Amino acid sequence: MLDIARSWVQQSQRIAVLTGAGVSAESGVPTFRDAQTGYWAQFRAEEMATEEGFRNHPERVWKWYQYRRDLLASVQPNAAHGALADFEQHHPGRLTLITQNVDGLHQRAGSSGVLCLHGDILENRWLDTPRACCHIADAVKGEPPYCDRCGNLVRPGVVWFGEALPHDTFAAAQLAVHQCALMLVIGTAGAVYPAAGLARQARSAGARVVVLNPAPSELDDAAHAVLRGAAGSLLPQLLAV
Ligand code: APR
Repeated sequence: MLDIARSWVQQSQRIAVLTGAGVSAESGVPTFRDAQTGYWAQFRAEEMATEEGFRNHPERVWKWYQYRRDLLASVQPNAAHGALADFEQHHPGRLTLITQNVDGLHQRAGSSGVLCLHGDILENRWLDTPRACCHIADAVKGEPPYCDRCGNLVRPGVVWFGEALPHDTFAAAQLAVHQCALMLVIGTAGAVYPAAGLARQARSAGARVVVLNPAPSELDDAAHAVLRGAAGSLLPQLLAV
C-alpha cells in the first residue's frame, strides 16, 4: 500500500496535507487525547481548552498553557515534520500544509505557509475586545497577565472548543482540498470538526485520500488507502524526494 500511495504522490501536482497531534507524537508532545499527565491528570483537556474554562479558572488554564509551552521549548521537530518541509522545498507550490496542531513544530522544521486551523500556542491575545488601554506588551505580569487599566485578561492565541476557526485560514484550507489531486491525512483521530470534514470534502471533489495513522481513525472510511504506522517512519518513505 505504501508503494501505491507513493506513486500517487509522484503523480499529483497538487497535494493537500492535514496533520493532527499524531505527527508530533514522536517529538514527545503528548497527543491531545493522551491522558493528561502528573498534576494535570485531574483535569480534562476538553474542559480547560474553552473560554468558559478560562473565565472560571483563569490561573489554572493559563498555567496549563504555560506548562505546555515549556514542554514545547524542550522538544524538536521529528522526521515527519522534516519530510513535509523537505518535500515543500524540493517541490515548491505542490503541497499545502494544513494543521490542527498549535505546537509550531511544522514551522520550526522549515515548512512555510502553514495553515494553522487551531491557532498557535506561542501567541497571546486579549480575552475581551481590546480597548485603547490594552497593549499586550504593557500587560501587567500575572497568571494570566492583564491590563491594569481595565482588567482585560491575556489569553493564549489558540482556538478553543466552541470557537470559530480563523475564517481566512479555513477558507484557504477548503480551497486547497477542493483543488488537490491527493490529500494526506496524518496523525489525527478525525474527531473534531470542521477540520475533520476536510478529508471528505477532498474525496467529494475527486481527490484520492490517504490516511496515515498507527490506529483506526474516524476518517479511515473516507480513505482510498490507509497506511498503518507512525508518521516519523512512514512519511519520509512516502515523500522521499
Ligand atoms: N504517527 C501518526 N499518528 C499517530 C502517532 C504517530 N506516531 N501517534 C499517535 N497517532 C495518532 C493517534 O492514533 C490518534 O488518532 O494521532 C491521533 C491523535 O489524535 P488526537 O489526540 O485526538 O489529536 P487530533 O486528532 O489532532 O485532535 C484534533 O481536537 O482536541 C482538539 O484542538 C485539538 O487539534 C486538536 C483537535
